[in-house]
Amino acid sequence: MLDIKITKTTAPKEKPVDSPKMSFGKTFSDHMFLMDYNPEQGWHDARIVPYAPFQLDPACVVFHYAQELFEGMKAYRSVDNTIQLFRPECNGARMQDSSERMCIPKIPVEDYVQAVKALVEVDKDWVPHSEGTSLYIRPFVIATDVGMGVHASHNYTFCIICSPSGAYYAEGIDPVRIYVEDEYIRAAPGLTGFTKCGGNYAASILAGALAEKKGFAQVLWLDGVEKKYVEEVGSMNIMFKIDGKIYTAACTGTVLPGVTRRSCIELLKDWGYEVIEGKLAIADVMKAGHEGRLEEVFGTGTAAVVSPVKELDWKGDKVFISDGKIGPVTQKLYDTMTGMQWGKLPDTKGWIVPVCKG
Ligand code: COI
Repeated sequence: MLDIKITKTTAPKEKPVDSPKMSFGKTFSDHMFLMDYNPEQGWHDARIVPYAPFQLDPACVVFHYAQELFEGMKAYRSVDNTIQLFRPECNGARMQDSSERMCIPKIPVEDYVQAVKALVEVDKDWVPHSEGTSLYIRPFVIATDVGMGVHASHNYTFCIICSPSGAYYAEGIDPVRIYVEDEYIRAAPGLTGFTKCGGNYAASILAGALAEKKGFAQVLWLDGVEKKYVEEVGSMNIMFKIDGKIYTAACTGTVLPGVTRRSCIELLKDWGYEVIEGKLAIADVMKAGHEGRLEEVFGTGTAAVVSPVKELDWKGDKVFISDGKIGPVTQKLYDTMTGMQWGKLPDTKGWIVPVCKG
């Protein structure tokens, strides 16, 4: 159990206009959580302080060798004005897995969840009220040793910041166009694909920018060895409904084990769908599309929730899905996930963790 020292701001910031059209991740709440690590004390000095820039030595390891990791979560304001989280322990556990791969000392899951809850409670007025909005929570750890040697840092800072946000995509829940990336890759066996480290995202930016220029919301990554099997999309996992069955890439090291992904799989199985986690060739997806058997495609992620895909473009070959509309399974998943998250539906799965009254 952490002993968290709280210092509140004396100069609260103006909040952004509370509307369903709020942007994603552009403004930040009044406070942040900080905790430091050194080999003598371990993780120590847990505190909540006014949100402010860091002062860091330009030679810090994180700036040069990107030894860092992050998480993504949301706090929701429910219909009865409870501020609540969705499966925060899953993010805490995933951060431990990322930590191991990135040589970063682990934070106990209970401490992680306690820190998130404490910050959300202090900044509860920043959880927006409008339909479809939430307080996006961004926990991250950075390596703070000073020096140019390429080795694990001895010192780290864990920080959590929060951003009142609307939908991740400008399209909201409207179906998006996805470009199947055939040149660049995101991950390969033995690399860091399963972690939430910034380097994975840095490596994806060029492909994302090129796809955006062509009018696509994001890229669909293929496996890094044969460029044959579907893996994930820029900021979410992806699922395909073909002939009534749901297919998604297995989490075998190259795909992010998404919390929304696993929750959707559980719901789909509850509803009687066969869910196949394994290798799915992009050629088979396109073939199913041309034969009218590709019934729905949707992404899943904390930021995007459940996001329908209306078009896939692979080397100039295009398939259009669900007549450009959101399919029934995608809609049901979206309604069920957001229904539980915003307290409009009962939490039949035990996934909701209340923080405080709003
Ligand atoms: C999330 O869904 O929370 C993510 O971390 C994706 C992000 C890169 C926007």
